[in-house]
Amino acid sequence: MNKKIAVIGAGNVGASVAQYAAEANIADVVMIDIIEGFPQGKALDLTQAGPVRGYNGMITGSNHYKDIKGADIVIMTAGMPRKPGMSREDLLSINADIVATAAKNIKKYAPKAFVIVVSNPLDIMTYHMWKVTGFPKNRVLGQAGVLDSTRFRAFIAMELNVAMRDVHAMVLGGHGDTMVPLPRYTTVSGIPISEFIDAKRIKEIVERTRFGGGEIVKLLKKGSAYYAPAASTMEMVYSILNDEKRVLPCSCYMDGQYGLKNIYIGTPAILGGKGVEKIIELKLSKKDLNDLAKSAKKYTGVLKEIGY
Ligand code: NAI
Ligand code: 2OP
Repeated sequence: MNKKIAVIGAGNVGASVAQYAAEANIADVVMIDIIEGFPQGKALDLTQAGPVRGYNGMITGSNHYKDIKGADIVIMTAGMPRKPGMSREDLLSINADIVATAAKNIKKYAPKAFVIVVSNPLDIMTYHMWKVTGFPKNRVLGQAGVLDSTRFRAFIAMELNVAMRDVHAMVLGGHGDTMVPLPRYTTVSGIPISEFIDAKRIKEIVERTRFGGGEIVKLLKKGSAYYAPAASTMEMVYSILNDEKRVLPCSCYMDGQYGLKNIYIGTPAILGGKGVEKIIELKLSKKDLNDLAKSAKKYTGVLKEIGY
């Protein structure tokens, strides 16, 4: 039997996740959305690309959560995206209600699934999903770090005119302006970027990374990024479904690591068949640790706004 991926929200991120999943031929995909006909239309369109793109998995759309039944993994993308001038936190109350509804239904129809949250504000919505589902912490995680790191990687590759895939980077912390890019752990084929780029320029690239989502919102004017977010989400899906044990930065529940507790925030982790199999606790500089604590403090405050 094929594996099954359920994507909640058939909008820009959700449909792109479905497309990448279909093309990878790793699972059947069902998309759920509240707009009648919308997920069904997207699914039919994607299915009709199958003969040309060479995929066979079933792609379906539905307006009923019951159709996520049996899903191995659920990707939560439903919610409002940012519009120009909005921060991710502005989406808080709207998306908290949407996440709560989804969480109750995931618990009911796919009680054994892994859940990857994408809806913003990411670290808050991931915590909310974890609380409402009551799932173990290894089965609920958020996508942000892979995206923030791939943005950092792309900017460095563009700067140096080197192959994108040879640049490796690590970005910690919350998915927002308080994220903590780590140039010290950023390399071109293992060579530290400080060998290629001076400190002032690295700082500029770090700043561009920090505001990478906002840069795209400003350009698009009607919504936020989706190709890179969906591709980043799929990296996590592959690693879990194929038990690849990739080391990927993602929003995970902190249980004392980095001195943080009872919060979801970005950290490198090993993702495999059991979901979050291990959180990797890096030896951070004082400044980076301080920045991470600041990021966490901000989110603890935001969690209070939705009753935690
Ligand atoms: P979009 O507006 O294109 O799609 C959202 C979809 O959710 C819409 O089709 C809408 O009908 C659906 N929806 C709304 N309420 C629903 C409900 N109760 N049940 C089922 N479906 C519902 O937005 P887009 O661009 O796909 O972004 C989705 C979310 O992902 C936003 O919150 C956005 O901020 C976030 N995001 C997060 C990223 C990350 O790295 N964590 C990156 C990009 C976006
Ligand atoms: C991004 O970083 C909006 O969170 C979304 O593109």
